[in-house]
Amino acid sequence: MATYYNEPSRTFSEYLLIPNLTTKDCTPANVSLKTPLVKYKKGEKPAYSLNIPFSSAVMQSVSDDKMAAALARCGGISFIFGSQPIEEQANMIRKVKSYKAGFVVSRSNLTPDHTLQDILNLKEKYAHSTFAITHDGTANGKLLGIVASRDYRISRDARDKKISTFMTPFDSLVYGKTGITLSEANDLIWEHKLNVLPIVNEDQCLDYLVFRKDYDAHKEYPLELLDANKSYIVGAGINSKDYKERVPALVEAGVDVLVIDSSDGYTEWQRETIEYVKANFDVKIGAGNVVDREGFLYLVEAGADFVKVGIGGGSICITREQKGIGRGQASAVIEVAAAREQYFNETGIYVPICSDGGIVHDYHITLALSMGADFVMMGRYFARFDESPTRKLKVGNNFVKEFWGEGSNRARNWERYDTGGKSGLLFEEGVDSYVPYAGSLQENLDKTISKIKSTMCNCGSKSIEEMQRNARITLVSATSLVEGGAHDVILKESSLSGE
Ligand code: IMP
Repeated sequence: MATYYNEPSRTFSEYLLIPNLTTKDCTPANVSLKTPLVKYKKGEKPAYSLNIPFSSAVMQSVSDDKMAAALARCGGISFIFGSQPIEEQANMIRKVKSYKAGFVVSRSNLTPDHTLQDILNLKEKYAHSTFAITHDGTANGKLLGIVASRDYRISRDARDKKISTFMTPFDSLVYGKTGITLSEANDLIWEHKLNVLPIVNEDQCLDYLVFRKDYDAHKEYPLELLDANKSYIVGAGINSKDYKERVPALVEAGVDVLVIDSSDGYTEWQRETIEYVKANFDVKIGAGNVVDREGFLYLVEAGADFVKVGIGGGSICITREQKGIGRGQASAVIEVAAAREQYFNETGIYVPICSDGGIVHDYHITLALSMGADFVMMGRYFARFDESPTRKLKVGNNFVKEFWGEGSNRARNWERYDTGGKSGLLFEEGVDSYVPYAGSLQENLDKTISKIKSTMCNCGSKSIEEMQRNARITLVSATSLVEGGAHDVILKESSLSGE
């Protein structure tokens, strides 16, 4: 007879956190979101940690080299999608590893036809005082000049002045050429007493800015995730079919951490893949996805360095409708976290778990962490930003970004779903969709992180570990869910758009 689980399987929206005592030192500034990425022995340090508990999904429409660099700069990790030819994936890894800390993409850019008033507006918005002036006002346009605060004097009649009349033009700038090392850039900065050094390519297009202040202390990105050579840390997705060709190429390209990407990871193919990687390479490897204790223990015993949890909860996922497998994401995390705890008590080995998919609101991340996840993986969340690899389009009056599942006909990543037989599936497990465009990664991350830290303070916790120990989590009834949003009021237009 089949085994029945009579408790309903639950998702994040069915839970809330109950505040604990907040002590006076428990302020967002004192909260650390540092979290282990790979397994470690009690009393030792993990070989890799994240500075923020975020990873971007192993998806064509989410994690390429650009996203990986942007997220590592902010302290998280991307797993570059494996549903592409091996050499192309290895090249993306190489590109990320070649970005060096200290080179920043210019955030505030204007054209020579803009005015001093435009500078003042941007200055107020970003609190920057250096602006790149490019032919089209973009971060990688042809560099025509730089404006710093010493270039202008604010008086009422000067605000309409065109930037072309007071910028330092390109001909008078000291600049570095693409490929320059950070220490060479720093030498130029000191030699010419500069505050900023633009780095341009052979077409005079702007690649990066190197700031004097960043060289001393990476102030812009204090959480950036770096290896010993000051290159960004990057992950890559693999599958359990072509790993004997793919893994050597990725390791050669410098990948830090691998993850086997599959909708159902409780398989002998995953065990064989982990065993092959462990026997032949000194590289970390995560596995998944699982949704219960048995799946978790199977992958841990096979040697997995972390385990990914979640089946069927992804925003683009139709696995549950198509195949009838899966589990509510909160129930899955809670059960796997309990198994991890028991394993730790018995062996002294801590195996991080990643809650993958189904994050709809920012507070779901806080709940996942409280329930025992060490970090989350998100697709939809990251797909909305400038840095995701897909096109930004205008649909009706709104800007959107394209976002498609790995199990959709568009991605055709059948290796993720195929459980052995001949390659190729007869049905899809994911959809092709749009998500609302949301701007830059960093702006959005800053907001999300401040919400997580604020909730952690409500719960009296200054670290994820404390939160996991101290959190008090309550189920909510269907009726109290209604009470959770604004209710019984008529909303004004402007308050309808927030998350
Ligand atoms: P999201 O954060 O809710 O968008 O979920 C992202 C996660 O959905 C990924 O990390 C994958 O685990 C999963 N996923 C990606 N593509 C598909 C698909 O086509 N079908 C089912 N699940 C998918």
